[in-house]
Amino acid sequence: MLTRREFAAAGLAAAGLSMAAPNDRVQVGVIGCGARSHELMRHLMTAGGAEIVAVCDAYQGRMERAADRVGGRVRKVADYRNVLNDKSIDAVMIVTPDHWHETMVLGAIAAGKDVYCEKPLTFRSAEGLEVIRAAQAAKKIVQVGSQVCSSAIQQEARRMIQAGKLGKVTMIRAAYSRNTVSGAWGYPIPPDASAANCNWEMFQGPAEKRPFSLERFFRWRCYSEYSGGIATDLFVHLCTTIHFLMNATAPAKVMAMGQLYLRKDRDVPDTLNAILEYPDGFVVNLSSTFNNQISGEGSFQILGTEASLELASDLTFLPERKWDDNKWIVESWPKTLEEAYWKDPRVIASEIAPKRVKAQLPTSIKSPAEDMTVPHLRSWVTSLRTRQGHWEDAAVGHRAAACAHMVNKSVQEGRMVEWDFARDDVKA
Ligand SMILES: NC(=O)c1ccc[n+]([C@@H]2O[C@H](COP(=O)([O-])OP(=O)(O)OC[C@H]3O[C@@H](n4cnc5c(N)ncnc54)[C@H](O)[C@@H]3O)[C@@H](O)[C@H]2O)c1
Repeated sequence: MLTRREFAAAGLAAAGLSMAAPNDRVQVGVIGCGARSHELMRHLMTAGGAEIVAVCDAYQGRMERAADRVGGRVRKVADYRNVLNDKSIDAVMIVTPDHWHETMVLGAIAAGKDVYCEKPLTFRSAEGLEVIRAAQAAKKIVQVGSQVCSSAIQQEARRMIQAGKLGKVTMIRAAYSRNTVSGAWGYPIPPDASAANCNWEMFQGPAEKRPFSLERFFRWRCYSEYSGGIATDLFVHLCTTIHFLMNATAPAKVMAMGQLYLRKDRDVPDTLNAILEYPDGFVVNLSSTFNNQISGEGSFQILGTEASLELASDLTFLPERKWDDNKWIVESWPKTLEEAYWKDPRVIASEIAPKRVKAQLPTSIKSPAEDMTVPHLRSWVTSLRTRQGHWEDAAVGHRAAACAHMVNKSVQEGRMVEWDFARDDVKA
């Protein structure tokens, strides 16, 4: 089924025209108006080309705040299905907790809408293939919201890696370390929140039913009914980045260990370590703890034979300083042999000459001031017009989320988990 916009676009395309009229903005409905959604709404308004016409949230206070933020003729919709049924809406942004993503994405596609879905695309790995099939069959745009691949410095990092500037990359190390209450998802709960203004049934949806709990409603990442914890919340960003930078699809094998060592307010690990081995000839170490923050938020190193890249808020290129130093070995040899060693032209070439060359210094590329979510959303709006999907489509979102699910499966089952490249999903 064609939406109003696609029907119009098809007509204009047939007439050799485009839909880029500045006042013809994509009509967007926002489902889930929590913390991330408010960022997305601001960034979408900056990106331009779209108008938010409906906002929906299970907590009244956030829906009201969203309507205030957006202004204009936005409608407040209590039940997300009424956003999907609204024919005037072209596309939806799904920014709810993870256990809702698949149901809402499939519902949106079935209702003829294009989708921007926050990461992780899925709550369980098998959901990914369903979403890919549905999006392809209905020719709908599904873009996933791990915005980092739209940052200028990640795009530069990708160019450098693909141009061979790092030599052969065989290892990537990435970590998230946090040690604050809010960093570990213990977010403040709005003081007015209660069963009267938080729709518990709407929040729980497809999840296993539990008694009403404001902690679960507002700190859902701490509970395995709604979240895969560190893996699906944080590692998924790292995996999206790795797949983008390395042109990789999925790891062949994943081994992980995780524990809930200290924090009493959750049932997901507060510490997680994973090793992901890719068939493309490199291995990844992902590490995260919520009990110490010395390595900081999002440390990321791509290690090549000729240089490394460090991705933080800036991108740093660190050339390898490769020369041997066998002094301590040959000092133990008979003196005549030691003296002869230092006169050998091969030793001069490998140990003496390189030290005389001025070392290439690290170079940094600064991140642009614009938040990377703005270009990510701009790409989405462009895709809605051109019908050409972004790199981070349903398939890419599925595989990044599946890495997180493999990590959790490995922890839970105490074994190595493999990827089935033929099925494009995790091996049972
Ligand atoms: N890309 C990023 O950098 C980034 C950052 C933060 C969060 N996220 C993702 O965004 C999503 C939301 O995270 P958040 O931090 O905003 O969480 P949040 O709890 O602040 O917001 C989620 C909102 O969804 C609402 N909600 C729950 N069920 C609903 C339903 N059935 N219908 C309508 N509204 C419903 C809740 O009331 C809440 O306001 C998650 O998937 C998270 O992983 C992405």
